[in-house]
Amino acid sequence: IPVDPFDLVLFGATGDLAKRKILPGLFHRFEVGQMPPEARIIGSARTEMDAEAFRQSTKDAIEEFTPDSPNRAKTLAAFLERLDYVTVDVSSDQGWQDLAQVLRPDVVRAFYLSVGPSLFADIAGRLHECGLATPDSRIVVEKPFGRDLASARALNEGLRACFEEHQIYRIDHYLGKETVQNLMALRFANSLFEPLWNATHVDHVQITVAESIGIDGRGAYYDQSGAMRDMVQNHLVQLLCLTAMEPPSKFTPNAVRDEKVKVIEALDPVEPADIARGQYRADTGGDSYRDHVGNSSSSTESFIAMKVSVANWRWSGTPFYLRTGKRLRARESEIAVVFRDPPHTIFPNVGRLRGNVLVIRLQPDEGITLRTTIKDPGPGGLRLSEVSLDMSFADALGADVRQQDAYERLVMDVIRGDQTLFMRGDEVEAAWAWVDPIIRNWEETGDQPAAYDPGSSGPEEALMLMHRDGRRWRHIGG
Ligand code: BG6
Repeated sequence: IPVDPFDLVLFGATGDLAKRKILPGLFHRFEVGQMPPEARIIGSARTEMDAEAFRQSTKDAIEEFTPDSPNRAKTLAAFLERLDYVTVDVSSDQGWQDLAQVLRPDVVRAFYLSVGPSLFADIAGRLHECGLATPDSRIVVEKPFGRDLASARALNEGLRACFEEHQIYRIDHYLGKETVQNLMALRFANSLFEPLWNATHVDHVQITVAESIGIDGRGAYYDQSGAMRDMVQNHLVQLLCLTAMEPPSKFTPNAVRDEKVKVIEALDPVEPADIARGQYRADTGGDSYRDHVGNSSSSTESFIAMKVSVANWRWSGTPFYLRTGKRLRARESEIAVVFRDPPHTIFPNVGRLRGNVLVIRLQPDEGITLRTTIKDPGPGGLRLSEVSLDMSFADALGADVRQQDAYERLVMDVIRGDQTLFMRGDEVEAAWAWVDPIIRNWEETGDQPAAYDPGSSGPEEALMLMHRDGRRWRHIGG
């Protein structure tokens, strides 16, 4: 879909996220011809440099973070011509007028704040005071969007003092992942699944976002956050919402987000007994979580598993089990919808029949799998075995179809003015309102996470969470 000419101002343009994700994402959109000739990207940061130096550092970043291709050098040279740079010290008056001078009056304006949340309100305020924000401008912010309900509200107030909600784009990059969007296509563009998508037919749902990496240089931030704030409040809640929500009446930003908010508001408070927190210990010769964050008495969780109830008509009696953690056996994320067992077997000597499982694989190797039971081939009596109907997107769509990175999709949605895949203010607040009491309880009781081995699937307590319900987690790592 073509987009209108735009000026995208990227605050924090010399930062890690800009280099790894945002600028490479914009380059890919340019490569496929989606960027109109009049589009410009204006880098901005406190670092003094000229446009030429910014082009050079962007060139280095794109060469490092995008795959090489026969035409890349030529395309990259053309892309770099779109770049400009203005030095702005966002905490002072310096640079705003320079920025005003390079912006054009008649194109879409987007201000991308790839900076810490403590600067959101300041930047929004300056953009407003200096007259840089037009009624049609967009402002984009990254997580963490608060660390509790009160701070999220304060951030919302700071942004809304200068921008209307329809101008504010809160990124949760999980919503830009191809398979996450595919979940909506699977549910609402097919007639097969939706009639079965309820407590009558679904025994439980497992949502796993496992990571093999540790805290790698992010200790200061992470130790103040933990898996609950870093992953559950945002990414896992979003996956839960898309899995559990009612069909919106149309695919418009507010219709979709209204349904997601209803899911969050239907979440029951979680009992401490339904949560397992973990922290990775040292493996042979390696470092523990506490070594990584430099805090020998940290009680922050690098793993969490929890049993969640969506208390509404559709899901009553069907638990959602969520888990996420660092330094686990593999990087593997999936949503598994586990259907109820067949009620009766007509086949002699086959034991208990197991229910079908529909797995939406987010990463790696994005795709959809349906576990089914078939007759085991061969002579002799009728034996049954389980096989997967397996659809890998790479195979189904052709290996040469490159999967878009989440950021590519999201940045272009900002320019198009489509907020469907961004979190609305009330949605973020509702998620914090659900998370806050859980964290408060840990703080009040001095809850300590259980230790787990790096390369495992988390602490024993997480396994027990399922076992006591007569269920099992799916295996992490193939
Ligand atoms: C980020 C978290 O939001 O998501 C990180 O802050 C985490 O801790 C990352 O590693 C995971 O994203 P992805 O796209 O690699 O699954």
